[in-house]
This record gives sequence, C-alpha cells and structure tokens, in this order.
Amino acid sequence: MEKIIDESQQGKTLVLEQKSENTRKLFIESYGCAMNFSDSEIVAAILFKEGYNTTQTLEEADLVLVNTCSIRDKAEQTVRKRLEKYNAVKRINPKMKVGVLGCMAERLKSKLLEEEKIVDLVVGPDAYKDLPNLLSEVEDGREAINVLLSKDETYGDISPVRLNTNGVSAYVSITRGCDNMCTFCVVPFTRGRERSRDPQSILEEVNDLWNKGYKEITLLGQNVDSYLWYGGGLKKDFEKASEIQKATAVNFAKLLELCAKAQPKMRIRFSTSNPQDLTLDVIETMAKYNNICDHIHLPVQSGSNRILKAMNRLHTREEYFELIDNIRRILPNCAISQDMIAGFPTETEADHQDTLSLMEYVKYNFGYMFTYSERPGTLAERKMEDDVPEAVKKRRLDDIVQLQRQHSEIRTKAYLNTTVEVLIERESKKSDAEWSGRTSQNIVAVFPKEHYNIGDLVNVKVTDCTSATLIGEAIGYAVN
Ligand code: SAH
Ligand code: F3S
Repeated sequence: MEKIIDESQQGKTLVLEQKSENTRKLFIESYGCAMNFSDSEIVAAILFKEGYNTTQTLEEADLVLVNTCSIRDKAEQTVRKRLEKYNAVKRINPKMKVGVLGCMAERLKSKLLEEEKIVDLVVGPDAYKDLPNLLSEVEDGREAINVLLSKDETYGDISPVRLNTNGVSAYVSITRGCDNMCTFCVVPFTRGRERSRDPQSILEEVNDLWNKGYKEITLLGQNVDSYLWYGGGLKKDFEKASEIQKATAVNFAKLLELCAKAQPKMRIRFSTSNPQDLTLDVIETMAKYNNICDHIHLPVQSGSNRILKAMNRLHTREEYFELIDNIRRILPNCAISQDMIAGFPTETEADHQDTLSLMEYVKYNFGYMFTYSERPGTLAERKMEDDVPEAVKKRRLDDIVQLQRQHSEIRTKAYLNTTVEVLIERESKKSDAEWSGRTSQNIVAVFPKEHYNIGDLVNVKVTDCTSATLIGEAIGYAVN
C-alpha cells in the first residue's frame, strides 16, 4: 500500500486556465506526497509565464514533466514505468521534451540522464525557479540539470495556480525539507534542510484563497510542528539569531492561530506532525479555535522502544502515550491517524507485538501502513542489514492492516446516530445523486444532494456507515 493523500490523485495531470498567447503545451503529472502536488502547482505557475498552457493529452505535449517520489522503491518503479510510456509517445512526437522533477531527480541526479535516455531535463525540488533557463538549454538541444538544494528557497513569492481542484480545499506549504533524519527516510536527502516560509506570505495566500472561494486549507510540511520563522534562515541556526529575532519568532502554534484568526470561517488542517515536535500549545490552539479541524496525523512508525531508537525517532512509546492522553484530554473529539512501518531491520516478533499493542491503546481512526523499503544513502541502509525476510514483513503488515481495519470500524461506528459537520467537496464516486465531503475529523461522509452545493458546510445526521465512510442525510446548514 503506497502512502497517498487520495488514491485517485496519483499520477493526476494538472490542468490550468488557458492563456491564448501561450503557444506551447505542458503535460505535468505528480506522484507521492501532497507536497509534490503543491510543488507542481508552483511549477505550472512558473511555466505559465513562460508561454506554456497545460494539457491533459500526453500526445500533444511539447513538454512533459513528472514530479516524482523516492520514499519507497515501489514509488520509483512506478515513475520508471511512466518514462517508458513517454518514450512510446515520443516516437509519434519526436519534438516532445521530458523532464523529471522532485525527489527522484534529487536522489539520482545526472544518473537519471544516463539511465533513462528519454530524459532531457532533471530538476530538484529547490530549483524550479531555474526552469526557464534550463528549458532554453534543452531547446538548444542540450540536456539540462539543476539539483542544487537551497537553504532559503520556500517559493513564498510565487502564487500557485490551482484550477483543476474542487475549488473548495487547497494546500498551502509552510515548511520545506526536514532535519529529523529518521534513519529509514530519504526525505532529508532529497528535500534538504528544513526551512520555514514567511508567515506574512502564508497569510496572504490564505486570504487570497478565501477570496477565491476556498473553504478549507491544509498547511503542509514534512514536519509542520517544527515550523519556526525568525526572519528567515534554517531551523538549526535559530540559536544564533538575535534577541529581537528570538522574541518575535513565530512557531507553529502561533502560525495556526494567525491563520485561524485571519479567516475565522476557513477550515484549517495541517500535515504532518512528528510526535517529538507536537507541543501542548498546538493542541491548546486547536481547542481554542473552532475552525481548526479536529484531526492530527501523528505517524509513529513502530510501537517498540528499541525500534523507535534505531529509527532515530526521538520519543519513547511511553512519551507517545502521554501525548495521546493529552490530545484526548484537551480535544476529546479529535481523530488521530498513523503511519506505520513493518519489518524495519532487526524487528522481532516481540517488537511487532509492541506495535500491535500500541495500536490497541490508541485505536487510530485510520492509517497508512507500509513494509520497510531500504533506501540508498539513508543511515539504516549504511549501518543496518535489511534482515527481515519479505514474507515476514508482509505478514506483519497484514496484521497491522487488519487491526487498523477493526479500529477504523469501531471509530466510524461511534458516529452512528450523531450529527456531524460536513464540508461538501464533490459528487460521490458511487452515486451522482449524492454529495461527498469530510467531517472536521477528516472522515468521509456521503448523503443525498437535495438543494445543497459544493462548498457548503452542512449538518449531516449519520444513519449508516461502512468501515471508513459515514452515510447519512443533511439536516440543514451548519452555523460556522
Ligand atoms: N513527515 C513526512 C513523512 C514522509 S514519509 C510526512 O509529511 O508525511 C511518509 C511515510 O512513509 C512515513 O511516515 C513512513 O511511514 C513511510 N516511509 C518513509 N520511509 C520509508 C521506508 N524507507 N520504507 C517504508 N516506509 C517508509
Ligand atoms: Fe522523513 Fe522523519 Fe522527516 S519520516 S520526512 S525524516 S520526520
């Protein structure tokens, strides 16, 4: 199972407003995490100014860009298959140029140009502003590459163009990179050092989205709770900041509050939280503002203290329970979700049982679960043998998935006969007579359309459910 924000989004092409003066056609598709989808919007905005309109038809594209993910080997294999497909199309349209963006570009660098003859352009996550220059190289018949990582690039000055969304919910990126160095994870290598975006530009984007009709935003970062703005600069250099910079610094709790206050009717979500950085003031801020949604995505990866240590997750199982208890105490209606890895090097049956018992304690609403995939260059790859046999990893993953399914069902059933607030996002996939939206807790709810519209916030009486979806009927607009 690949971690995804929405299964149907994977490989989705981005289609933007057309400008008649633009003569060239860009086909851009994205894989992996929400940050990649958000980055593709930035890339499209940059290229829009360079004369490119977007297209959904691969065969007519002048430029094909694929925004890639390296998190697990399977994610990279998916992209390699797409490159084969582009190659076939290039035979019909030899002028078509192909570029690889994102984490695979950063991880493989010029090797990609050597290994994949089809690729003309390789651009890492911090180099998108260089695309116009790189494209002119490509037009002159040369291969072009920029995989420099930056200490300060946040693309805060580029307003992403988003038109193929539902017009209701949007991503707003607040940090880039990650300094955590979990030993299994390739992200610190592909996305560089952690840096935070100027709160002013975040607020401007939030206000702009509200004015354009958006009703929900998700603040995005690899580790949002670690957000820290003190006038620019890396998180790790905060110690060296001046007294005034320290006194006026904005942390994540403060940023959340600023966003919640700036647009009191905008629903606010965030992802992802790392347990070691999620502080009480964030939970208290969530409790204080009605428009901050009651959901925390809180990956734990393992329930075993020994494995958590080997993963360089800087908390114990007991500290995690304490955090869960605090969330339950301050936010009794908050949904909690997880990411879990089965079969990290040296994981024993006893460690695996610890994972299952941790899950029993928390009873997560939902989760994203994976078998361990060794990633070149990570500390785990360099220092540890990938010694859990594939069949054992799969069996443990099955146990975890089964247990999560039971817990999801318990959690979902608890909403039966209650009334929940749902923001309508789209037509239900199953029936064109029904709307689909999400509750504050990020649980999908479907109900008959009646006179309601996309973007409405409605009260829904829950009459039935599946393990992951609430089924009900709208009983009026919500006051919020
Ligand atoms: N902080 C990030 C985490 C990115 S990776 C975020 O915003 O979600 C997403 C998830 O992929 C991780 O939480 C972890 O569960 C999983 N993952 C990362 N590296 C992995 C690996 N080498 N093998 C298997 N799963 C991995
Ligand atoms: Fe990866 Fe850990 Fe950062 S999972 S993205 S190194 S918080």
